[in-house]
Amino acid sequence: MADTKHLRELDKRYLWHPFTQMADWCAPEHDPLVIVSGKGVVLRDSEGNEYLDGNSSIWTNIHGHGHPVINQAICDQVGKLAHCSALGFSNEPAIQLAEKLTALLPGSPLSRVFYSDDGSTAIECACKMAIQFRQLTGQPQRNRFLAFENAYHGDTAGAASLGGIGSFTGRFSGTGFKAHSVPDLESLEQIPANELAEITAVCIEPVIQGAAGMRTWPTGMLACLRKWCDAHDIFLILDEVMTGFGRTGKMFACQHEDVVPDFLCLAKGLTGGYLPLAATLTTEKVFEAFLGGYDDTFFYGHSYCANPIGCAAALGSLDVFEKEHVLEGLPAKIEHFRNELTTHFNELECVVEIRQAGLTAGIEITPSAGDRTGAKVCLEARQFGLLTRPVRNTLVLMPPLCSSQNEISEMTTALRRALDHVVR
Ligand SMILES: Cc1ncc(COP(=O)(O)O)c(C=O)c1O
Repeated sequence: MADTKHLRELDKRYLWHPFTQMADWCAPEHDPLVIVSGKGVVLRDSEGNEYLDGNSSIWTNIHGHGHPVINQAICDQVGKLAHCSALGFSNEPAIQLAEKLTALLPGSPLSRVFYSDDGSTAIECACKMAIQFRQLTGQPQRNRFLAFENAYHGDTAGAASLGGIGSFTGRFSGTGFKAHSVPDLESLEQIPANELAEITAVCIEPVIQGAAGMRTWPTGMLACLRKWCDAHDIFLILDEVMTGFGRTGKMFACQHEDVVPDFLCLAKGLTGGYLPLAATLTTEKVFEAFLGGYDDTFFYGHSYCANPIGCAAALGSLDVFEKEHVLEGLPAKIEHFRNELTTHFNELECVVEIRQAGLTAGIEITPSAGDRTGAKVCLEARQFGLLTRPVRNTLVLMPPLCSSQNEISEMTTALRRALDHVVR
């Protein structure tokens, strides 16, 4: 293997990392970690150091790294077929996965699966379907969206136009869909009827807004939003890109409030966190509106839609959910996580709030602790064997679902030690 120093030089010479100020990254004093392997919740760098994956590799990993079932599913599929276009053809794992995904919400009307590549494209796809559906059903004026302040739905132009975090979207305002941000459910009631008549859909991250700093919605909000959408003939798009696949304690966050959306957007954890694959689920009612002439076709897609290896990995992940009774094991882990967060972070002067939904937590640090405290704490956490990434001044911990209680304790302990070092 190439030595670490050389890899770092090449990285700084050739790469441009996402969401990264490259002047800081390329600074001589910055030594990027080069991750070379992963097993369970542990990642290992090119110098042999081991770290707990405290943010599930940017909120994707579910059953740990190198899980034998998912590895095998991928290898088996590579041996048969790596890729074949979904434009004009189908493939076995894509068909099997679609059937399994629709069965994850038993009795729900979500019966159609459209594959794409990542969270952003899952959202783009739902939005375009929501606009075209209205055109096909005689309501072309319904071409606008409602979304929430501090929302994050991805970075492609359409998905970003639904976002409510100015630092990500401000520069590109005016591009994408026509969307309007509201702060909360109550403010929807203030929207005049003539404006409501132009709305096709509301989009929301159910239960918890991730990139906002792990901000939880009040219990019952989602169920009320569903009712409000029904009352106004407005679609509900649920962005479960982060919350899907057990992250909040149930397979999907919407199940906490028995809500079924009109569009369900899935990505990150869909493949267990192994490969880029996304799915937008919708109803037969939406699907049927597109069954007409050539011009009614949903002209949307990507080269790698329904990629067989990604679908095989997703099937492997669902297999693990079943065989290892993953959902059944979550309540005890979540309770343990809650206790650990309380033990380590409650009543610290620098902690403004601890927010948790399942195995996801945000620990908000007061701005008076200093500039970029979140980033400094997460950098320091490496010294204690933990990798994670903050959202501004909110420390994020998101253990993979396979984490043992012991590993969850190790993560919270490491983060607390790092916080103590930075905020004395
Ligand atoms: C709630 C939510 N939606 C959409 C996205 C975008 O997903 P991707 O980065 O896969 O495009 C993210 C990514 O963090 C997310 O958290």
